[in-house]
Amino acid sequence: MVEAFAVASGKGGTGKTTSTLALGMALAEQYDVTVVDADTGMANLLFHTGLDDVDVTLHDLLVEDVATDVSAAVYERFGMHVVPCGTSLAAFRAADPERLRGVVADLAADTDVLLLDSPAALGSKSAVLPVVLADRTVVVLQPTIPSLSDGLKVQEYARSYGTETAGILFNRIRDDADVDRVVDRAERYFGGRTLGVVPESDVASDARRAGEPLLSYAPESTAAEAFRDAAARIDVRAGDSEDVADRFRSAVVPDEV
Ligand SMILES: Nc1ncnc2c1ncn2[C@@H]1O[C@H](COP(=O)(O)OP(=O)(O)OP(=O)(O)O)[C@@H](O)[C@H]1O
Ligand SMILES: [Mg+2]
Repeated sequence: MVEAFAVASGKGGTGKTTSTLALGMALAEQYDVTVVDADTGMANLLFHTGLDDVDVTLHDLLVEDVATDVSAAVYERFGMHVVPCGTSLAAFRAADPERLRGVVADLAADTDVLLLDSPAALGSKSAVLPVVLADRTVVVLQPTIPSLSDGLKVQEYARSYGTETAGILFNRIRDDADVDRVVDRAERYFGGRTLGVVPESDVASDARRAGEPLLSYAPESTAAEAFRDAAARIDVRAGDSEDVADRFRSAVVPDEV
């Protein structure tokens, strides 16, 4: 079985990478989980997982005519399979975004939950691929109107490719007034459910500096607890691995956004 989720938002810096790893670690209690840094232009996941000095990353799998086995870029960390992406501009330029389909198809054949840490915005082929390829999207939002507006655009775009919303995850909530003002309203506009409300917390950035996901660095923190609750609200669906892999391989990648 497998279900692929894109963890997306409109705005940058909402907490997609933090959330991908937190949801991944929580879901790994129950499922075989693979997390992929599909933000190939502005990869960050490697810094959140202490993988910034590894030799082989997703970039190496996306370069044409180089036969690198997918497993070479998979690292067993924090109870998950982690596929980091490199940060070099040259490697990003050399990478063919369409090859991500085959890589994700290979990974999908052998895991239960695939989480694709997605780029902010919808500006290019590599940016839209995760939401096009995924079964469903987890939309990460900060409690502001611009963040909601951008998140809605991502949802609308994803839906136009048949990718529904698994739920919305509010991150960096500073006070309860935000919850009353924005969260309730957002539920009317987004599909799926509100998965959770994660508070603004220094442990999130401390964890990143330590090169560890939040649930490893501060498992007892309120923020970690909120992410675990959110993960428990995701109703993971058991897609047939081969069907999902075939769908990824044959997905049509849009030229125009
Ligand atoms: N709940 C939180 N409280 C405080 N800081 C947070 C929280 N969640 C994330 N952060 C911090 O906010 C910054 C952005 O988070 P993250 O990298 O997860 O966002 P992102 O959406 O993946 O960003 P990008 O769009 O650049 O990929 C990081 O420094 C992270 O440590
Ligand atoms: Mg990120």
